[in-house]
Amino acid sequence: MLTDKRILLIIAGGIAAFKSLDLIRRLRERGALVTPVLTRSAEEFVTPLSVSSLAGEKVYRDLFDLTDEAEMGHIQLSRSADLIVVAPATADLMAKMANGLANDLASTLLLATDTPVLIAPAMNVRMWEHPATQRNLTTLQGDGIGVVGPNEGDMACGEYGPGRMSEPLEIVSEIESAMRVGALSGQRVLVTSGPTHEPIDPVRYIANRSSGAQGSAIAEALVEQGAEVIFVTGPADAARPNGVHLVEVETAQEMMQAVQGTLPVDAAVFSAAVADWRVASASESKIKKTKDGLPVLSFAENPDILATVSQMKSGRPKLVIGFAAETDDVIENATSKRLRKGCDWIVANDVSPETGIMGGSENAVTLISDDGAESWPRMGKAEVACQLAERIAKALQ
Ligand code: CTP
Repeated sequence: MLTDKRILLIIAGGIAAFKSLDLIRRLRERGALVTPVLTRSAEEFVTPLSVSSLAGEKVYRDLFDLTDEAEMGHIQLSRSADLIVVAPATADLMAKMANGLANDLASTLLLATDTPVLIAPAMNVRMWEHPATQRNLTTLQGDGIGVVGPNEGDMACGEYGPGRMSEPLEIVSEIESAMRVGALSGQRVLVTSGPTHEPIDPVRYIANRSSGAQGSAIAEALVEQGAEVIFVTGPADAARPNGVHLVEVETAQEMMQAVQGTLPVDAAVFSAAVADWRVASASESKIKKTKDGLPVLSFAENPDILATVSQMKSGRPKLVIGFAAETDDVIENATSKRLRKGCDWIVANDVSPETGIMGGSENAVTLISDDGAESWPRMGKAEVACQLAERIAKALQ
């Protein structure tokens, strides 16, 4: 239920605006209070009268409406809600948000707010796939903005593909999870994820098979529990989690620097598969084949991020969690790794190829702490993430 939760609903100008009428109805059925804001182009698709009738509230339309400024300034309006929802979010409005433009009421509210924001993009498939929109999307996700959809399907313009706005009930369910005051609300949690790439030369690198799936799932589960999550990821295949502060890096050294930039945090989960070594002096130009023989790579050790943070003398997170991906003597190796690195918990797993865990959708982990080793049954990575997030919430209480 969303009883007495105030939602500022910004409707931008797209054909999907008609679905926002149903969204208002669904939100009100659940007890939410909806303050609608219409952009000028939205008024071409839905009328202010139909929106205000369904919302049972005044529609805000113009930045320079002096009555509104006297009643409630745009700054106050932008902060009076529990959540701002932009549905539909057009390519244009996403571009304005990503670049901090504020030239109408909707974009000004979005720039002035300190309230969480959820957007439901809707646009033509080519516009959605355009590198500019994808760049803006990455920026917005990095700013901690939640995104629901778009869905794939037939579009009003006759094309097929991703770009349709999510259905009102899908948006409602995202709103409900965004509003959940979880056990971790008020806690700042760092998650590292994915592999790192260590360059050999400008075109070649050393990598590993981590997909980043477990790290993304953990970040999402922590967001679900209400944590503020800073997600530092290497070049992973897995989709980036919603609702996190996203920091993308490539090498272990960059990851170390990014992690240091996020401190202090209440808890840190190091699920990244960080390369232990880098090429000591990566070549600045492409290494060519020669008749003189094979190239010889010499290695340098990368900083151990988990050990560095675990052994901090001041400002150490209250809870530091490492991962141990092992192929032999899993529990024994992971137990000594915990002591060696100085972290509080180690989540150990067997990544031998026959387990299908590395790059797969399931995981079978053993949680190692001061209390000993506790093996969990094999389950989906999302389920492992939920259980771990619950444990973290309990430990931080
Ligand atoms: N880790 C890290 N920085 C590194 C290497 C590892 O933060 N340079 C973290 C990983 O994110 C993981 C944990 O340390 O949480 C264990 O990583 P793993 O690669 O298994 O440990 P290693 O130190 O490489 O130990 P070993 O070589 O003995 O397996």
